[in-house]
Amino acid sequence: MPSDLHGLPITTASPEAAAAFDQTLLAYFKYRADTPKHLARALEADEDFAMGQILRGYFMLLAFNQAQVAAAREAARAAGRTIAGASAREKLHFSALEAWIAGDLERALKVWEQILAEHPRDVLAFRLAHFNNFWLGRPAAMRASVDRVESQWGVELPGYGTLLSCKCFAYEECGEYAIAEPAGRKAVEIDPEDLWGTHALAHVMEMQGRCAEGISFLGEMERHWAAGNNLVHHLWWHRALFHYERREFEAALDLYDRRFRNLASPLTQAQPDLYIDVQNAAAMLFRLERQGIDVGNRWVELADKAEARVGDCRSAFTLPHWMLALAACERYAAGNRMLQAMRVFGDGTDTLAPIVRDIALPICEAVLAHRSGNFGRAVDLMRPVLETMHRLGGSHAQQDVLEQLFLDAALNANRPDDLRRVLVRAARDKPLPLEQRVGYAAAERALAM
Ligand SMILES: [Fe+2]
Repeated sequence: MPSDLHGLPITTASPEAAAAFDQTLLAYFKYRADTPKHLARALEADEDFAMGQILRGYFMLLAFNQAQVAAAREAARAAGRTIAGASAREKLHFSALEAWIAGDLERALKVWEQILAEHPRDVLAFRLAHFNNFWLGRPAAMRASVDRVESQWGVELPGYGTLLSCKCFAYEECGEYAIAEPAGRKAVEIDPEDLWGTHALAHVMEMQGRCAEGISFLGEMERHWAAGNNLVHHLWWHRALFHYERREFEAALDLYDRRFRNLASPLTQAQPDLYIDVQNAAAMLFRLERQGIDVGNRWVELADKAEARVGDCRSAFTLPHWMLALAACERYAAGNRMLQAMRVFGDGTDTLAPIVRDIALPICEAVLAHRSGNFGRAVDLMRPVLETMHRLGGSHAQQDVLEQLFLDAALNANRPDDLRRVLVRAARDKPLPLEQRVGYAAAERALAM
């Protein structure tokens, strides 16, 4: 029986399928655009390869798009035809896929950790747990997952750089920058095309206010991004965020049009409404508008896509971004339809249901209230969820757009206590003087007067 890149047995009679499976994993870990092609080769060589079909299902779900769930189900059905003859570890992956399809992410996470307890080098289980913990706002779980397996990994393993890039990001999100940075540096030293490692380092620099260094670091690394998937857009977004903090708004907008929201680029054309791209775009437009920048009609295409995705709650953190676009275009009827669909979803059994019902819903209502000038209502809606909104998922850098939404509403509603509340949070989350932070300086001054 063949083994995967870390020596774990995989059930296929085809050496070609096994080799293509390894290439798929490596491409997935490095965020390469050609990942699906490698997987297609594996399944062409052996369509009864259960682990290959399971991976296909996982990839469908990683789009965090309700429309892709049917394809994930189809992949699970295909895997189900041969899973009885597979190993216990592969059977666990099968059950994780089924749980995830059913919206039971809690169970999927438990299964991935169960796999890792016995097979700490199952880099696929590790990466899926890392990523899904991230989108559930659980940085401590990401860090614990790294800590549990790290001693079982070594530099000789092909996935070692991936472990380091995940370590960097997990520790960065836990505020432990001195541990995060060396891990990320080592990851990109092993492979400068390790986009997750580059991304994690950009986060360290973002949180420490190292804007000039961040711009120069990402500028130096961009020659390694040609084969990347949409994470490349997010890296450009991070660069724009550094420019934004330096009040270089034109540079941020230029990156928006040419890099991370270029509607003509092949990556965007292939997936015009991918969750991460939508988050990048909406969050940047909102930040720029707060600084008085006219963003023209850029919201319109996002609002069109938001209308088409009403009712899709597979990505909780994207929901306020969809709503930002609808509100910016004053599409209040569509916004209300979206709220109603979220209420229905919130009554369900999905792991995300209580998160959508209790957190995303009031924030989305606040987005509509804020745009319609009902600032006091926006403050009142958001205040009760400030301490829990990290459960929507997303990084500190991404969640900042929600902090700024609350801040802007409190400023406009003339609520000094709420302003103070959000400034205390901002100072706690990012150790930089507030007067040096573009989104917070005006509020700091207003409170001092
Ligand atoms: Fe990021």
